[in-house]
Amino acid sequence: MAKIETSQVKYLKGRKKNYNLKYAILNEVIAKEIDARSVVVELFGGIGITSKLIQSRSPLAHYVVELNQDCLEYLNKIPNIKIIEGDAFKVPKLACDIIFLDPNSFNFTNLPKYEKILKAYKHKTLVITETGCFNLKFNSITSTEHFARLADKLSRLGLNLARVYHTPNFSILVVKPSHKLIIEKWEDEWTGWKKLVG
Ligand SMILES: C[S@@+](CC[C@H](N)C(=O)[O-])C[C@H]1O[C@@H](n2cnc3c(N)ncnc32)[C@H](O)[C@@H]1O
Repeated sequence: MAKIETSQVKYLKGRKKNYNLKYAILNEVIAKEIDARSVVVELFGGIGITSKLIQSRSPLAHYVVELNQDCLEYLNKIPNIKIIEGDAFKVPKLACDIIFLDPNSFNFTNLPKYEKILKAYKHKTLVITETGCFNLKFNSITSTEHFARLADKLSRLGLNLARVYHTPNFSILVVKPSHKLIIEKWEDEWTGWKKLVG
């Protein structure tokens, strides 16, 4: 598992199978959640694959926060995004409708690190990449138990877990005020993301 600070450029080549699932899910979520009136924030922008999917919906405004120079070189080539070069943990809260949180690692173990960000955006729609379900088999718990615990942890911070797209190695969480939790096992892959690199 890459460290939180590691640039996406360093591990891009090794994640093809996971990415086929990840960007299939994000495609689905972005089509559902974003339209021409949306103001979007992306923390941990990486090389901008998600940014390009978001841009395909022509949002009203789109801010992308990224720290590593090699990723910023990719982001600088994407039209219509406002790049904020800096540490996602330190950037002041940005006004938006929806925020994407896509760090290298977000799970039970390091959740406290993200508390400030989560609380700041708790009344918005949050889309979070979660890597904790990778450990389910080691912890001998079911995915339903895992997400129930995660929903409980998030509710203690004032966030309502509305939807989970679940794969064997990671999940995409959608947090939305007042929605009943739906857990969906995701198996459809999409390789179109490869055309969005570079
Ligand atoms: C999982 S990748 C993002 C992938 C991207 N959303 C995409 O779909 O192309 C996470 C990125 O977060 C960046 N990062 C790590 N720590 C950061 C921090 N404190 N502030 C901003 N960006 C950070 C890394 O450079 C890495 O490229």
